[in-house]
Amino acid sequence: RTNPLVLGIETSCDETGIGIVRGTTLLSNTIASSMDEHARYGGVVPEVAARAHLEELVPAIRAATAEAGISLAEIDAVAVTCGPGLSGALMVGVGAAKALAISLGTPIYAVNHLVGHVGADLLRTDEDQTDAPLEYPTIALLVSGGHTSLLLVRDLVSDVELLGETIDDAAGEAFDKVARILGLPYPGGPQIDRAALEGDPAAIRFPRGLSQAKDMARHRYDFSFSGLKTSVARWVEQRQDAGDPVPVADVAASFRESVVDILLTKAVAACVDFEVPRLLLGGGVIANARLRQVAAERTDAAGIALRIPPLSLCTDNGAMIAALGAQLIMAGHEPSSLEFGADSTLPV
Ligand code: KG4
Ligand code: ZN
Repeated sequence: RTNPLVLGIETSCDETGIGIVRGTTLLSNTIASSMDEHARYGGVVPEVAARAHLEELVPAIRAATAEAGISLAEIDAVAVTCGPGLSGALMVGVGAAKALAISLGTPIYAVNHLVGHVGADLLRTDEDQTDAPLEYPTIALLVSGGHTSLLLVRDLVSDVELLGETIDDAAGEAFDKVARILGLPYPGGPQIDRAALEGDPAAIRFPRGLSQAKDMARHRYDFSFSGLKTSVARWVEQRQDAGDPVPVADVAASFRESVVDILLTKAVAACVDFEVPRLLLGGGVIANARLRQVAAERTDAAGIALRIPPLSLCTDNGAMIAALGAQLIMAGHEPSSLEFGADSTLPV
């Protein structure tokens, strides 16, 4: 069927996202974040996130339907993230989605969070229907506090291949940890971005994870950020031990350069290796000013079309989940049986 009205539920991390779409048209995208509650712990606390979803879900559903100007009874299907993500957080969303689908008598689609990030690129607002839609194949680089993944997308609903991912910390997590080392508050990404404004990105040469020839054989498209974080910590400690001031701006700029460089080196390499002239970016780290700049430069130089959805669709949200659900319906996929559970390590 064409242009189904789908409500999407996203609770894989700290954002309670409810989105409503009609086909590829975005009708509403409500997000409630428990970020503030995690700030004093310096990272997302799973139990706190799950509890916040429980409190925020119903108000978010009400807000989303009001903004879309629809009643719940009109909905054709419910889509929900069933993984990967934090178990408890996912379970709250899955439980709510099942209850909603049963009470409304609609089908339900359990979808993968990472594939949802790619689906975000399909969404258009009413005024914006002219923009070229997501084209296949495309390489997708997804970078957030929870994931750092490189995907080869030949078809959103039937052929998504994970080329590589982080073998330790996610890139956003590295930003958060390095911010902490530098005495900057959580979340660290925007803080590092700001501090780096005055810094020299070439001041300190921090390592690029998994870029040596010996690593490239096995981990060509994988990432590693824990060595980088340790290297920054050691550099800062040595300064402090010597009684010298820490040049926060230079450390922030040099660290950010290392992360951005390795992310784009590997993403562009994937485009070249697979002869895919398109790169899609997604995830909260895409807010990074330097990442956007270097992505534009390198894709331009390599003749690769760069796609970056609006930031509200790059960070975790329900609209991208609804968009993926709508694609599944339009491609004739069967709905999920109501027995599915949450899978924190769900593969793509
Ligand atoms: O996608 P997102 O909103 O949600 C989760 O992963 O839960 O991403 C949040 C992550 C955090 O780690 C944050 O530090 C990072 O994205 N982030 C940034 C920037 N803004 C947010 N990282 C680098 N530069 C930024 N400007
Ligand atoms: Zn995400």
